[in-house]
Amino acid sequence: MLVLLASIFVVHIATVIMLFVSTIANVWVVSDLGTGSVGLWKNCTSGGCGDNLSYAGEDALKAVQAFMILSIIFSVISLVVFVFQLFTMEKGNRFFLSGATMLVCWLCVMVGASIYTHHYANGSINNYEPSHHGYSFILTWICFCFSFIIGILYLVLRKK
Ligand SMILES: *[C@@H]1O[C@H](CO)[C@@H](O)[C@H](O)[C@H]1NC(C)=O
Repeated sequence: MLVLLASIFVVHIATVIMLFVSTIANVWVVSDLGTGSVGLWKNCTSGGCGDNLSYAGEDALKAVQAFMILSIIFSVISLVVFVFQLFTMEKGNRFFLSGATMLVCWLCVMVGASIYTHHYANGSINNYEPSHHGYSFILTWICFCFSFIIGILYLVLRKK
């Protein structure tokens, strides 16, 4: 049981880091021709990243930015609550609060990543043909899976 809790803790920290990296790094869609990559904030070429993202003002992109930031906040809150409950909660109880908070994080990742996938995750809108998904995009979908598993495990596990 202790090993299980410790592994969830490690996976939780990894998820927080991955959410952070994927939100900040502008590598959601990458040009196959090596001309650059775009993310939630900037348009990057070999010369550096600039503010010339053509759809920067669109509501859909702002929604993705907001949901990704919310997902980071909720995953951190869930981690803090888990550590707190580990020391204060009575034995036999479930980590209900950390689990519920982590599932809210999962919902935010799901909404953010879905909007991005629907609107921006292709080469044509980014003027990159051909293109592939960058590591930010992949990390985000990995976080989608991890945050769900972590959330459910918190709800199921009892403190020993
Ligand atoms: C990114 O910059 C390149 C080069 O300036 C431009 O061709 C492309 O349309 C831009 N992409 C977006 C999504 O703004």
